[in-house]
Amino acid sequence: MILKIYQTNYHVADLAPRIALFLLIFYWIMPWRFASHYDFLNRKEIVNELVEQVTSNISMQRMAPCDYTDILADNANTYRPQYRDHVLRGEEILQGGEYFPEECSARYSTAIIVPYRKREEQLHAFLIYMHNYLRQQRIHYRIFLVEQYDQKPFNRAKLFNIGSIIAAELEFPCLILHDVDLLPMNLGQLYACTQKPRHMCSALDIFRFTLPYRGLFGGVVAIRTQQYRFINGMSNMFEGWGGEDDDFFNRLYSYKIDICRFEPTYSKYTMIRHKPEKKNEDRLELLRNGYKRFLTDGLNSLVYKEKERRMHSLFTHILVET
Ligand code: UDP
Ligand code: BGC
Ligand code: MN
Repeated sequence: MILKIYQTNYHVADLAPRIALFLLIFYWIMPWRFASHYDFLNRKEIVNELVEQVTSNISMQRMAPCDYTDILADNANTYRPQYRDHVLRGEEILQGGEYFPEECSARYSTAIIVPYRKREEQLHAFLIYMHNYLRQQRIHYRIFLVEQYDQKPFNRAKLFNIGSIIAAELEFPCLILHDVDLLPMNLGQLYACTQKPRHMCSALDIFRFTLPYRGLFGGVVAIRTQQYRFINGMSNMFEGWGGEDDDFFNRLYSYKIDICRFEPTYSKYTMIRHKPEKKNEDRLELLRNGYKRFLTDGLNSLVYKEKERRMHSLFTHILVET
């Protein structure tokens, strides 16, 4: 009898770690852990939502407007070695990392704004892949790298604000706010603006191609320049990792501006793996009371110093002190 009790106890104790492991795996793989059901534009709806607008130099072109039907219908998988290894036909790209197709008039002009500091390897991979990818989309685009050239904690949102001012001066009607380590995997995620601001990387590989929460609005986002200005841009106050994108989402929400996403097969991205950055300990507090500052903290309170602007063959490099 004593022995039996002892044996039973022994078995339970023995099984405990396995049960714990099983529950952990069960939790990890269950789809309801993610906001897997979210609203999105399906492939037929996408084309009607795109905003056709270009810079004035492009609008002077006399060729027939480009056709995007095949790009959207095929949604080709482009995450292939030939796109990642080296820049194909580099001579097509204009100094400063700009391109527009020669054979037709692009219908969309997009400024791609990349906040940056000390991520050389990622930048190298990003520039090669993105130029190969974007030229297949037959759009007019230019890549702006906004580098934080000081020792202060990294301020991603502030760098976007700076990039937006420069892109607006150059008349770009559409901004794509882009992490340097994210690469789109399918051609149908057209780098053009939709009527509503768009979260583009909603099927990210590090999140098992699902959306962790519906309010996630970071990574890669497309927004019309006029909308970005209307909401006073992003907060300048988030220093270090986290929260600034959530604050941006709250800001749009407070202005009753809805966001959109493309269907998941169009929104697949891969992240180049890296060590996590130091979290901003104040981010939750800043986020909680962010609504009090929407009108006063943003483009209208932006202070920075542009140290230099360099035209590289694959990007426009803007060095700033924040
Ligand atoms: N970033 C950078 N240098 C840094 C920190 C961040 O260039 O020291 C930029 C870079 O574009 C990066 C983005 O900010 O992709 C977001 O930071 P991170 O990748 O660390 O955040 P995650 O989205 O991976 O949590
Ligand atoms: C942070 C965001 C981040 C997201 C996904 C959130 O907790 O506040 O800044 O983008 O997690 O990593
Ligand atoms: Mn990252």
